[in-house]
Order: sequence, then structure tokens, then C-alpha cells
Amino acid sequence: MSRVLEQARKISIPTRQEEEKTEELADFLIKQVNREAARHAQVVAVELGGSYAKGTWLRGQMDFDIFVKLKTDTGEKEFEETGKKIGFDSMKKFNPHVRYSEHPYVEAEIKGTRVNVVPCYDVEKGQWKSAADRSSFHTKFILESFDDAKKNEVRLLKKFLKGVGIYGAEIAKEGFGGYVAEVLVHNYGSFLGVIEAASNFTQGHVIGNPSKKFETSLVLIDPVDSNRNLGTAISSQNAARFILAARAFLKKQSMVFFTGKQRNANRKNLKNALIVRFDYKWRSPDIIWGQVKRGTTSLAGQLELGGFEVIRKAAVADEKSEAAMLFLLRLPAIEKFTVKNGPEVYRKMDSESFISKNSKNIMTWIDESGRILSMQEREFYDAKKFLEHLLRKNLVQAGVPSGIIPDIRRGFRVLHGNQPVSKSIKKALAEVTSTDGLVFSTNR
Ligand code: CTP
Ligand code: MG
Repeated sequence: MSRVLEQARKISIPTRQEEEKTEELADFLIKQVNREAARHAQVVAVELGGSYAKGTWLRGQMDFDIFVKLKTDTGEKEFEETGKKIGFDSMKKFNPHVRYSEHPYVEAEIKGTRVNVVPCYDVEKGQWKSAADRSSFHTKFILESFDDAKKNEVRLLKKFLKGVGIYGAEIAKEGFGGYVAEVLVHNYGSFLGVIEAASNFTQGHVIGNPSKKFETSLVLIDPVDSNRNLGTAISSQNAARFILAARAFLKKQSMVFFTGKQRNANRKNLKNALIVRFDYKWRSPDIIWGQVKRGTTSLAGQLELGGFEVIRKAAVADEKSEAAMLFLLRLPAIEKFTVKNGPEVYRKMDSESFISKNSKNIMTWIDESGRILSMQEREFYDAKKFLEHLLRKNLVQAGVPSGIIPDIRRGFRVLHGNQPVSKSIKKALAEVTSTDGLVFSTNR
């Protein structure tokens, strides 16, 4: 084993001490949740799930996923209410709060460790009723097919994905989640096996036996459900990043792939960056991230229609109250004037209408081929002014998701890339204005 891999293992595998501490906390939690669960006749079992139960959690990165299994005849409302009640009551000393994915669940932080109490249905394999139902089958599958060595290979891969900045299945990241790392190791045997395979992934690469055709860049079939493509949660961009990172790592193994590398903004590009910043009323990260991402895409489309070329874009939501949409433009201000192409003069009706519509323009003329042209001043040639106007007047028409319109209406600012911004915006700005040194390394 190489020195790098040896070192990377050290920072990925929890210490004995950490394991013991975690075990204590797990026992305590299970007791608490069981006690509350016993008051509800609909509860069939309480189960520890996620990476703790599977033994694939990363050193220093514990979170507990506790599943409360409810009878399959529980109605949707009762399912949600019971889940919330048990979550709140069992963690009431630790400031619990509701979070939402497809269903609400309860989260709290206990001694620096995040704990999720998630309701699910006690279903037979394949008879899924809620999104969380597969999870206990995932746990069973991994425990049955992995020995300790394989679990540590998963940890190595998770650390690598984290270092490259593509770990996490949530919408904020659109990367590779914990279970994806496990399924990859299951398919390719080891960390290096996964990396070697990834370095040769082809477009639409399929791992597993799908029951139908999927269209994602990477198709990764859930071993417990052949209808489910885990690749759906992975953006094409992140799939591509993984491939390049794998190739770069094989060329030259280095610890930076596991520890990550700080990105610095490119000053020249910063001058051409604009930031739309606003505060949002708290909502679940998956929801706000989806909205801000869609908002960013709509505004980028509007900028293009306004004549501004958008080179890159990014969305930010800091999980508390700040959100931002970032745009790297080719130019923050474009030419003042544009020339509009009209019809050839032989098209009588079209000519007449063009002439009357453009009568107030700076200049109208006929070119060498007999076509009418007209020069006009743009309403906006400064991208900042363009965005400000749009955000004040045309939010709905611009296609900004209705969920964030009230937030933007309460107040927003359009900032230049070199104005002071918060830490999370700064990080996104660095990413959107600079080369990713990890995946584009040629001379390390
Ligand atoms: N899960 C899933 N699909 C997702 C997210 C989660 O199937 N998009 C399920 C998996 O069974 C996973 C469990 O929910 O094991 C817990 O999710 P998460 O905490 O994100 O993953 P872990 O495997 O626990 O990994 P980590 O070490 O990052 O906590
Ligand atoms: Mg987890």
C-alpha cells in the first residue's frame, strides 16, 4: 500500500476512543427513542441506520440516523405526526427542530453530533411507501456483504469525495452520497478499484442491472431496488469532476485529494462577477437550495436574452438566512448600441411595420443588400442595472421560482464580485472564478 493511502486511512478511520464515545451516545439515543416509541401503538421497531449502523462513518464526521418503523396501515398524517412527536419527545433537551425531505423528520445536535429521527414504514422489500423505507434494507445489504476491510475502503472513498468537494447526495451538493460510495466499493471491490474504474467511465456508464433505461451521466443501480437509479442525485458536472479527479489521482497520488485544497478567487474574473444577495425566511435546505438553483438558472437565461454572456453561475444558501445567485459574465457592461436586422424592402408589409416600430431609433438605414437596419440604444447595457430592474419589476415573468419571490421582494442587493461578502458567498465566488486545481492538476 502506498504511503499516501496509508496516511489517508489514518484520517478516515475513526479512532478507538471515538468509537467508544459514539457507542455510548448510540446506546443513550436508542434508549430515549425506544422509550418514546413505546407510547405509540403504530410503531413496530426503532432501528439505528445510516453510516453508523453500517460501520462506514468517517472519522470526526458522525451523524446518527435513527429510523422509527411504523405499521404499513398508518395513514400519511399519522405517520408524519407520530414521527415528529417521537423525534421531539426523545430529544427535547437538545433543541430539536423539524426538517423536511419528502417527509418531515426531526433533527438535533447532541454533544456535537447531529442526530436525525426519521419515520419510515415497516414494508416488505420492494413495497416502498415512503422514501426512507429502503434505508433499512441498505443497512442490511451492506452489513451482509462487507467485512471490516471493505468498510474502511468506503471510508477512504468518502474522504476522497469530500476532498474533491463532491460528497453528499443532498440538492445543495448534487454529489455522491454515503450509500453511493458503498455501492461503488461493492461493485469494484476497493477504493483503488473504484478510482481505476472511474478514470475510464464512459458517457452514461451503467453500474448494476437496471430494470429500465436511465438518462443520467452515471447510472448506478440501487442493489436493493433495480428501479432506482442512485445516479439521479449526481449532477453531470460532479460525475465529470469525479472522473477527472480519479485520473489525476492515478497520475500522482497525493494527500490533497483527501484533505481538499482551498480555492482562491481569480481577481481578473472577480471584476466580471455579479452577486444577487438576499435573505430568506428559514426553510429546509433541500427546498431553499432547489429554489435558489432554479432562480439562478432563470436569471442567467434573462441575462443572455438581455445581451450579456454568462460564462459560469452558482447558487448559495447558507442554511440559515442568506442566499445568493452568482454570475460570472464575459463583460459586466456591453456596448450601448445594438443594430437590429429588419426585412428586405421588397417585403412591403414587414418593412412598413419595422419602420414604424423603429421610428424613434438613433438611425435607420438600408444596407448594401437592400435590407433595412436600425440602430438603437439598449435599455440596459450595464448588467447590474439590468438585474436590479428585473428583480424590482419582472420577477414573475423572469421565471424566478415563486417560493423565493417574497424573499427577494423584502430586499436584495446586486453586488460586484470585489465587494465584501460573507464567507459562504466568498467560497462560491472562488469556485466560480478559478480553476479547480485538484482535478486539473498536470504537473504535481
Ligand atoms: N439515503 C438514500 N438516498 C439518499 C440519501 C440517503 O437512500 N439520497 C439513505 C441511505 O440508506 C443512507 C441513509 O439514507 O444510508 C442515511 O443517509 P445519509 O446520512 O446521507 O448517508 P450515510 O450512509 O449515513 O452516510 P454519512 O456517513 O454521510 O452519514
Ligand atoms: Mg448518515
